[in-house]
Parts: sequence; structure tokens; C-alpha cells
Amino acid sequence: MKKFIFGSLILSFFNFGMIGCTGNSDKASNDSEIRIGQFGSLTGAEATFGQSTDKGIRLAIDAVNAAGGVKGKKIKLITEDNQGKPDEAAAVVKKLITQDNVLALLGEVASNRSLAAAPIAQQFRIPMISPSSTNPKVTEIGNYIFRVCFIDPFQGPVMAKFAFEDLKVKKVAILKDLKSDYSLGLTEFFEKKFKELGGEITSIQNFQTGDTDFKAQLTAIRSEKPDAIFIPAYYTEVGLIARQARQLGIKATLLGGDGWDSPKLFEIGGEAIEGAYYSNHYSTESPNPATQEFIKKYKEKYSETPDGMAASGYDAARVLVQALEKVDELTPDKVREAIAETKDFKGATGTITIDQNRNADKEAFIVQVKDKGLKFIRTLSLK
Ligand code: PHE
Repeated sequence: MKKFIFGSLILSFFNFGMIGCTGNSDKASNDSEIRIGQFGSLTGAEATFGQSTDKGIRLAIDAVNAAGGVKGKKIKLITEDNQGKPDEAAAVVKKLITQDNVLALLGEVASNRSLAAAPIAQQFRIPMISPSSTNPKVTEIGNYIFRVCFIDPFQGPVMAKFAFEDLKVKKVAILKDLKSDYSLGLTEFFEKKFKELGGEITSIQNFQTGDTDFKAQLTAIRSEKPDAIFIPAYYTEVGLIARQARQLGIKATLLGGDGWDSPKLFEIGGEAIEGAYYSNHYSTESPNPATQEFIKKYKEKYSETPDGMAASGYDAARVLVQALEKVDELTPDKVREAIAETKDFKGATGTITIDQNRNADKEAFIVQVKDKGLKFIRTLSLK
């Protein structure tokens, strides 16, 4: 047994020139195809996150394969459903790396799941690009972890500024999800900026992912008479919170972040969510030619309008493809370096430059829910 292990180590040394913890990933470059792993919530309470992202990613990769692939090789996308569970995200990423020998990873949307999976990608030194996880800790995990979106220390202040300056809101209550890194971070960054601007936070109420009854928190908020309620959470809970707030007679403006973005928001929230505002990664009304071209192709393929995650998934995949095209050798290390050099990439969500912290510095789109759709209000950056 010992001899066997020793033998295979020697073998891998000669084959791949190194003994490391990259598993069999070097094999990915020897094959006739390039294996890319995708992990996302294709089922569960945030299923539209995974499904939309998947559609965006497939649109990008199918187009590359139809045009002959990269370096004469077709890209093989291997997709794993994590059911919206962090533990599952970690397990499927380990499987994608050690069994499927993927060269790189695309995912996740939710920060919780990216935070659970990224340490594994980093440990095995496989580059990972999150399309839309915005919590700052995600890319801090290490130098193999990237994202193509802005981060919450930007998004939170953007919404605070929009509320205070554009909507003239002076008193805000916050309703946050204790189980979500995204929610905790966004709460902190919004609160700080809103107070700095001279606004008042009347209270911060808590709930937990999966809760369905928010009446106690909303009753407390009602007595504080805030002008607005900031709800940094995902669409399922947001829709229910909006309904219950209106049932309790609360008229305050509802405000949120990118986690609201889903066609399901209008279904779950109904009339109650009309008029609410949130910040997002893109708007279908953006005049940007790259955005409009993406929307046209997406509609041709899927006969529906893409949401923000579809656009972010598309961008993450294309940034990865550009890196695959640039490298002289298809190894995780070279691909990692090429992703880090991404500059002025014309994405569907705007121009993407990966900074030294492996994040993308982009503007935010403020949208308003109107007639079960989204109305573009303005773009915002803090500069
Ligand atoms: N930004 C959210 C997070 O980090 C995820 C998200 C992105 C949700 C885009 C919806 C749209 O958890």
C-alpha cells in the first residue's frame, strides 16, 4: 500500500512536474475539452438565483463552443445544485475539483454559499469567480477567489445616499437576516453611511432565513414611524415582509439591495412591493450596447427577459473565457493570473476591471418596482 502511494506520487511528479494540492486539475488541460465547474442554488428558496445564473453562463459558453471553443477545445460545463445550502456548496465544490478535475469554478450568487465553498477552491488552488456575491469577505479568502460585481461596502452606502438625498428619507428602520452574511454586512454598511449623512436609524430588527412570520418585528417598527424600511435580504422573505407590513398598515417606503432581484419578487410581494426601490447589478433599460446585445441574445434563446443574475452569470463566464483564451497553457495558476489581469471588459453589467482585491469596481443601478416589473431610476457611484 505504502509503495503504491509512493509510486503514484513519483508518477504524478513526472507527469505534472509538481506534487501539490491541486488534485488532478492539471489533467484538465490535457484533455480534448476544458472542464469548468458551476455550483448554484438550482432548487430551494432562492432557486431563481441559481437558475438565472445558469442560463446566463450557458448562453456565454454555448456561443463560445458554437464558434469552435477555446484553443480548439470545447468547454464542458459541469453543473452542481447546492439546494441553497452552504454545506452542500462546500461538498459539491470539493467533488467538482477532486472528481471532475475542473480547471476553474463559476459561483455562487449568495455570499453564504460562496464563503463556504471558497476556502476549498483556495486550498486546491482552483480559480473561482463569483458572479454576484457582494459580501467583502468572499474574495478575502484568498488569491484564487474573484468576483465580477461590486461589494456591499459600496452597495450599502449607495442605497443610504439614494434614500437620504434622492428620496429625502430621514428615519429608517432596518430588518435584517441574522443567518445571512450578506444581510449582516449590508446592514452595517448602510447604517454607517446613513448616519454619517445625518439620518436616523430608528431600530434594527432581526429575523432568520426561512422565517415566514414577521409581524412582531413589523409591529415594533410601526410604532417608530420610520419614513422607510431597509430590508437587506433575499426575495422570498422580502415579498412576505412587504405583504405583512402593508397588512399592518405600514406605509413606509421599502428599500433593499440586489438580493431582491427575482421575477418571483413580484409574485410573492404582489401589490405590497409596488413602489419599492432596490440597488442592482444592471437594468434592462441601460443604453449600454453590451447590455442591449446580451438582452437580445438571451431573449432569442430563452424567450424571457434576463434578470440581474443572468447578466452577472454571463459576465462571469465571459471573463473566464477571455482568461482561457489569453493563457499559453491551460493550468489553474495561469488562468488565475489571467483573470486577475482583466481590464475594461465590456460586460452586460457594465465595464469590468478586476482590482488588486479581486473585486470589480462598477456603478449600481437603482430600480423601482412598477406594474410587476422594474423601472430604471438612475445609476449611482460614490465618486
Ligand atoms: N449579492 C447577494 C449576496 O452576496 C446575492 C445576490 C446577487 C442576490 C444578485 C441577487 C442578485 O449574497
